[in-house]
Amino acid sequence: MTLPLMAGNWKMNKTIEEGLTFALSLKELLAGIDAVEIVIAPPFTMLDRVKERLGNSNIRLAAQNLFWKEEGAFTGEISPVMVRDVGCEYVILGHSERRGYFNEDDSMINKKVLAALKNELNPILCVGETLEEREEGKTFKVIEMQVRAGLAGCLQGQMRYVTIAYEPIWAIGTGKTAKPEEAEDVHQRIREVLHELFEMDALEDTRIIYGGSVGPQNVDALMAQPNIDGALVGGASLKADSFERIVRFRAV
Ligand code: PGA
Repeated sequence: MTLPLMAGNWKMNKTIEEGLTFALSLKELLAGIDAVEIVIAPPFTMLDRVKERLGNSNIRLAAQNLFWKEEGAFTGEISPVMVRDVGCEYVILGHSERRGYFNEDDSMINKKVLAALKNELNPILCVGETLEEREEGKTFKVIEMQVRAGLAGCLQGQMRYVTIAYEPIWAIGTGKTAKPEEAEDVHQRIREVLHELFEMDALEDTRIIYGGSVGPQNVDALMAQPNIDGALVGGASLKADSFERIVRFRAV
């Protein structure tokens, strides 16, 4: 099994100067941690300089999005080749904010996942249900559809590079977290769907991480669940002390 993954999604926050200062403090605070894979996803504007500032540290870089074409006339978009070129190893894809505000659907997200893999980037594929869907008892159905569609065409051998992030939309930025057992139920279901799609051996390294109001107050209980392999953290990743505490979780 691979290491747990703790990823900080900075979203649309911080100027370059703020980002660089912050990255440097994370580098110092998190130095020497090797039992957890640590990833940060700053905005595109500062990826190059954050990468430089991190040097050979144990913190890896993610982009928050990409476009599936490698180059061409696509004003405003960033290609997987460019994301790789700037030094990212990971890319967050299909975040609910992309799905919701920018109308990304499963087939677009699938093209992005395939393009990321083709360019040796590790995709973090986000899936999650709305509150309405949960209340109507449709959670499993929605998640299963998103997982199957998002991974269409992925080869068995590529699954070790893929991370699935389960992020219930009602828990993102709201302070409402799924209870650890609620999250675990969905993670378990995702694991089953993966097993239906791919052979067991291919999945040993596929991580399923949780996102949605993760913070120092709930990370330990979440990480104690057998199928929760890490966290995708928004708000609490913007402050050094809370992100440090998350990375240094103690599963209880
Ligand atoms: P949050 O965001 O931790 O602020 O809820 C999580 C995410 O959107 O990935």
